[in-house]
Amino acid sequence: MRVVRVRRGQVRQLLAAAPLFDDPPDLRACRAYLADPANIFLLAQHEGKPVGFLRGTALRQLHCRKPQMFLYEIAVADGFRRQGVGRELVRRLLDHCRRRGFEEAFVFTSPSNRPAVGLYRSTGGVTETDADRMYVYRLRPRATRRATGRRRPAVPTG
Ligand SMILES: CC(C)(COP(=O)(O)OP(=O)(O)OC[C@H]1O[C@@H](n2cnc3c(N)ncnc32)[C@H](O)[C@@H]1OP(=O)(O)O)[C@@H](O)C(=O)NCCC(=O)NCCS
Repeated sequence: MRVVRVRRGQVRQLLAAAPLFDDPPDLRACRAYLADPANIFLLAQHEGKPVGFLRGTALRQLHCRKPQMFLYEIAVADGFRRQGVGRELVRRLLDHCRRRGFEEAFVFTSPSNRPAVGLYRSTGGVTETDADRMYVYRLRPRATRRATGRRRPAVPTG
């Protein structure tokens, strides 16, 4: 299994992962998605076939110039689950974020989505309470952050 970043001009690679998507992709939308440098699309392949993907978007912040990464979506093909594909996709995203000086990455899920909760916890994502839907990966020391007053965007769960 290998993980590749799908870049601008590689829309065919992205479209090959369409069976893993919730909705059928639109060619022009996919091209525009890949052309936006804020976006990252990671594809997991086994013997050249897509077996998982992750996509995220970098967000600018108001309290510091370091961006946040919003892990918007991750999915692994049925026959390839529980084999470390999801973990590798998350690891690659976090590597990318660390290299580029992101403050943190975050992802939303429902507490009832046990595979997703297990994946995010096992890769270092934390919640403030057990009922939270948002998992945060802190990529810089907490001591430099304000202790209170952080509000979070209201985003639907994956
Ligand atoms: C969530 C998902 C991406 C996990 O992908 P995966 O490749 O199976 O995950 P991994 O094999 O890398 O598992 C990493 C860890 O996550 C946890 N985990 C994964 N699947 C789990 C399950 N079914 N139950 C409990 N924990 C699970 C485990 O801690 C696992 O480590 P372990 O196998 O050493 O115990 C996959 O189940 C999936 O595609 N689900 C449908 C789409 C979805 O719900 N996406 C998340 C939306 S927020």
